[in-house]
Formats: sequence, C-alpha cells, structure tokens
Amino acid sequence: KRVVPMSVMKLADEAAPLPAKFLKKASERPTTAHNVFCKEIPVISLEGIDSPSGRERIVGEVRDACAEWGIFQVIDHGVSEELMRKMMENTLSFFKLPLEEKIKYAAKPGGFPVGYASGSHRADDDILDWRELMSHRCLPKDVRENDYSLWPDQPEEYRKILVEYSDNIDRLVTLLLAVISESLGLPSDYIKNAVGGESAEQKILLNYYPQCPQPDLTLGLRKHTDYGTITVLQQDEVGGLQAYKEDRDQWVTVEPISGALVINLGDQIQILSNAKYCSVEHQAVVNSNQTRLSLVTFANPNAMAQMGPAPELLSDSNPAKYRRYTFKDYLPICFAQKTRKHYDALVI
Ligand code: SIN
Ligand code: FE2
Repeated sequence: KRVVPMSVMKLADEAAPLPAKFLKKASERPTTAHNVFCKEIPVISLEGIDSPSGRERIVGEVRDACAEWGIFQVIDHGVSEELMRKMMENTLSFFKLPLEEKIKYAAKPGGFPVGYASGSHRADDDILDWRELMSHRCLPKDVRENDYSLWPDQPEEYRKILVEYSDNIDRLVTLLLAVISESLGLPSDYIKNAVGGESAEQKILLNYYPQCPQPDLTLGLRKHTDYGTITVLQQDEVGGLQAYKEDRDQWVTVEPISGALVINLGDQIQILSNAKYCSVEHQAVVNSNQTRLSLVTFANPNAMAQMGPAPELLSDSNPAKYRRYTFKDYLPICFAQKTRKHYDALVI
C-alpha cells in the first residue's frame, strides 16, 4: 500500500466550517478582496524593445516599477497566447485527476521538494494553506531530464508543452534580466552572468486553489517574498494574487489581464541592487465561488553563484547593505536566523 505523505489531502470537498488546520491567525487573514483590483500596479508593453527609443522607454518604465513596486505586469512579451492557454488547460486537467492519480507524483519524503502536494510543502507546518500544487525542475536542461520521472504522462502533451513553456519563459527572463541590468546602469548581461549564465536554475510551480467555504479565515498561499532572481507568473481571470504595499501598509490585488504575465522581483535582485529595488511581499487569497489557477516560473541563481550587492553600484555614499554569500547557503542562513524577511539575515 502506497504511503500518502502528510501534506497530501483533499481540500475541495471539505464542508464549512473551515477545518481548524487552515485557520490563520487574525493578523494574517485577508484584508482586501480577491476581486478588488489595484489599477496602479504598472503594466509595461515590451513592444519596440529592438529599437533604441523603444528600449529606452522600457528600461525607464522597468526602473520605476522595480523601485516603486517590485511587481509589475508585462504585455507584448513574446510568449504566445496559444502556449499560455495550453499550459492552463494541461494544468487544469492534471488537478482534475482523482487524488489517487495525483499522489503518484507526490514529492518523495527526504527528496528534493518537487512534485504534487497540498496544504504545504513542509511536513512540519501546523497551519496549512488552501491550495494544491505541482512543481517541476525545468532548467538547466540536464536537471530537467532527471526530473522527468515526476512529470505526468497524462494529458499526452503535458511534457512537450511544459518544455516549450519553460524555454519560452526563459527567453523572456533573459530579456528582463538585461533590461533590469541596464536600468541599474550595469552592462546588459550583468545579472544573467551573476546568476550563473546558462547554468542558472528554473523551477515551474503550478497552483490550484479550490473554492473555499470560508475564504476570509485562511489564505491560498501565505505571505512571502520569492527568494530567487525573478518570478514570472501567469494567472487566470479569477484574481487572488496580492502584494503588500509597505509605504501604504496595504494589501493590493493584482488585476488579471488576459495575455499578461506578472513579474515579481526576488530577494536576489533586492540584494544585488543594494536595496534600490525591492522584492515585494505577496500572498494569494481564495474565494467561495471559483477555483483559481496560477502558473509560476522561478528564475533562480545556480547553487554555486556568488551573490551580494553588485560592487559597481557601491560607493562611499552607497555602502553595501548586505554581505556576500554562495546562493546555496542563502536559505539555510535565512532560516537559521528566523527573520521576517529572508534578506534581513544578510544585513551588514
Ligand atoms: C506565488 O507567489 O508563488 C503564487 C501566487 C499566486 O498564486 O498568484
Ligand atoms: Fe511567490
């Protein structure tokens, strides 16, 4: 008999009231509705990136968005709507499979935390999130090939579409890292090289948030910052991704825009930019009417990349705010210090 990991259980059919294990502390519960959208989060068209004037406009808009928000949306980004639609369809058909099928892809206890899970990645969590998830290691290519045993073979196209999506999003990431580098006054290839060039890592996370009987008392995904370089997020039309706007002490909901991709700066960009840019705290809220899907691509440095503030940006008036580290040590350092935000552990 197959052992079902602790973290795999059924959420969707749970009747009200909400089981106690999903009850968040009062201070962590949602304060802004999933469908009250903030119109101020920048939406940047990448059209014209190949002309000098177009690139100058885009670099300027990205600079403002990174400094003010740490989160923005891009349109005209070159990832086809057809591919985005197929990814959504395949993801939905996976999550619609019976639980017995999905747990065949459950993360192996003690192994790398990829594959299917629900509630939490971690076995030791007391309070769970209202979501099911599936994740895959997609880049570099040798890592992707080793990961295939945990990739569903149903629907038939799943693997092919995921590979195509991974490569397309990677191209967009390379472009965005060039634009972000230029926006900091650094050479175009600066950040890409800093994170390990072609050996940088990519993980794709598929989130399924079932309808929830008491969405005001829980979260689909608790507040966090992304610890990597940047995140590219595709969401459906339901809404639920929220960012914390620190200077207003307010949660704002990111508007779903058909065909757009949401870009989140990760901790590594905040640190590399010496806090000129911020990795924004965000969370996902759920609702009682509709299930929601989000497809999240994390671009992370190679484990051996030497990270820290870019020396080129530092001066007497802008001394390093963070110490240097090897990327593989980043999370262990942060967890050891139990700071509210990961990067606080590296503050000089
Ligand atoms: C995430 O932060 O990884 C996902 C948030 C969302 O589902 O929109
Ligand atoms: Fe995130």
